[in-house]
Amino acid sequence: MKGIIMAGGSGTRLKPLTGVLSKQLLPVYNKPMVYYPLSVLMLAGIRDILIISSPAHLPLFRALLGDGSHLGLRLDYAEQAHPGGIAEAFLIGADHIGADAVTLVLGDNLFHGPGFSALLRERARRLEGCTLFGYPVRDPQRYGVAEIDAAGRLIGVEEKPRKPRSELAVTGLYMYDRHVVDIARGLTPSARGELEVTDINQAYLERGQAELVQLGRGFVWLDTGTHDALLEAGQYVQILEQRQSVRIACVEEIAYRMGFIGAGRLLRLGREHADTDYGTYLVELAERSARDQQVPHAPPPGLVADPTGLPPFAATRSPGP
Ligand code: TTP
Repeated sequence: MKGIIMAGGSGTRLKPLTGVLSKQLLPVYNKPMVYYPLSVLMLAGIRDILIISSPAHLPLFRALLGDGSHLGLRLDYAEQAHPGGIAEAFLIGADHIGADAVTLVLGDNLFHGPGFSALLRERARRLEGCTLFGYPVRDPQRYGVAEIDAAGRLIGVEEKPRKPRSELAVTGLYMYDRHVVDIARGLTPSARGELEVTDINQAYLERGQAELVQLGRGFVWLDTGTHDALLEAGQYVQILEQRQSVRIACVEEIAYRMGFIGAGRLLRLGREHADTDYGTYLVELAERSARDQQVPHAPPPGLVADPTGLPPFAATRSPGP
C-alpha cells in the first residue's frame, strides 16, 4: 500500500496566514500541520509516501521532511501546478502508485482516537474497491455526505448537499485499490474546473465496491481550514498533550512504535531537538524503552493501554536501524 498526502490547495479561508506560507506547514500547537496526516499514514503501516504541493511550497516540505529515511520512510515529492482538485492526486501520483493500492489523506485533516492504528491496518489489509471514513458532524452540508442504508451500508455520497441524507461527513482519508488511477483518468472536471474525489467515490459505488467505516464516539476528526478550526485543533492537541503527557502525531515516536526505526535512532532524533520539550520527550522514550527491553517480558509501565491504539513497544519492535 502506497500513501499520498495532498498538501496543495489555495488556503483561501486562512488568508492572510496563507499569503506566503503553505497551510499545511502552519503550526497546530507544537508541530507543523503536515505531521498529523503523515502520522495517519504511518499508523496504517505505510512507509512509501508521496507529498503533493504547489511549486512554491514543495521545497519547504522537502526541507522539513527530506527523504524520510530518518523516520524509516521513503518520501517523494510532486508538484500540483494549480489547485485542480483532490482527485488530481492520482494523475500526479500515477507512477508512485504503480500497480499498488493507495491511501490518500488530506494535508489539513487531523484524526485521533483509540485503536486507530489497528483499524487502519485491518482496513488496508482487507481493502476491496474503496474504503471511506465517515464522521458524524452537526453541519454535514459543509462536507461530502455519506448516505447509508438501514444496515449501515454505503449507498451514496453527495458533495455539500443542501438537504443532507445523513449526518456523516466523508473525512479526508480514503483507501483505494489499484484501479483508482484508471478511474481518475476517466474523470471530467466539475463545474469549478476540478477533478473531484467525490466522482472517484461515485465510480466505486457504481461498481458496488465502496465501503464506509464509521468513526464513532471517542474519536476526533478535525479539519483545520479556517482560523477558528486551526485554533481549536491546536487547543485540542495542547489539552491532551499537557493532561496525559503523551504526544499526538509525534512522527518520531510513531516511527519507533511501528518498528520503522530502532531505539538508537530515536535517541539521536531526540538529541537533535535537545533542550526542547519535544526532544526531551523523545530522549525519555528511547531511554525508557531501552530499560524495558533489558527486563524480558516486562510490559512498559503505563503503555499497555496506549491511547494511540498501538500495541506496547515490545509487540511492535522489529530490529530497525
Ligand atoms: P480545501 O480545504 O478544499 O481547499 P484549500 O486548502 O485550497 O482551502 P480553501 O478552501 O480555504 O481555499 O482542500 C482540502 C485539502 O486538499 C487541503 O489540504 C488542500 C488539498 N488540496 C490540494 O492539495 N489540491 C487541490 O487542488 C485542492 C482543491 C485541495
